[in-house]
Amino acid sequence: MTADAYDSVASLYAELSRDALDGAPLDRAVIAAFAEFVRGGAVAEVGCGPGAVTAHLRDLGLDVFGVDLSPAMIALAREAYPDLRFEVGSMDALGVLGAGDGSLRGVLVWYSMIHTPPEELPEYFRELARVVEAGGHLLVGFFEAEGGPVTPFDHKVTTAYRWPVDGLARLAADAGFVEVARMLREPGEGERFRRGRLLMRREG
Ligand SMILES: C[S@@+](CC[C@H](N)C(=O)[O-])C[C@H]1O[C@@H](n2cnc3c(N)ncnc32)[C@H](O)[C@@H]1O
Repeated sequence: MTADAYDSVASLYAELSRDALDGAPLDRAVIAAFAEFVRGGAVAEVGCGPGAVTAHLRDLGLDVFGVDLSPAMIALAREAYPDLRFEVGSMDALGVLGAGDGSLRGVLVWYSMIHTPPEELPEYFRELARVVEAGGHLLVGFFEAEGGPVTPFDHKVTTAYRWPVDGLARLAADAGFVEVARMLREPGEGERFRRGRLLMRREG
């Protein structure tokens, strides 16, 4: 499924995505704001793929590690960034990697919830709320539904979903996150959909 799909395109994905943030100043801005909120504590990029965004967080001064479902992605990430810790694992089961309750100051989920069937997302948010400390932050990057409901689409790797910002914010709130900020940006060159970013703080 998702892991197999990403395993089979891992090298190509790594090549195409390595410099993605270079041409995306608004994405860098929101990630930089997240970094300011969580600097000084342990941070995870969950769904890190080949690790370029994790390395970007490291370059922003964070104590960060990466987690991904796809073993091929994690192998590429370890090869490209040998100074960083990368683990195979799933967003809904971070405890097996040693992530205890409130053990993280921050989590970045950058396009890695996009393939999760909507009915499974509440469980994902509950696990993220478990591992993020009170007052810690979660940043989610996703494809936005432009006024519509949750909508599946034919993502190049495997089916993905576009989400209304309010819908995603409600799921996060149900799990114990308070919205701090949201950002929408229109598709850039070669992009299909509007992008959404939600920055949230763990209640407590
Ligand atoms: C579109 S890629 C994004 C990778 C990286 N965040 C980036 O922006 O370059 C999505 C990644 O999320 C991972 N992923 C999907 N579902 C996941 C889950 N439940 N737990 C951990 N990783 C997951 C996939 O294996 C894939 O590497």
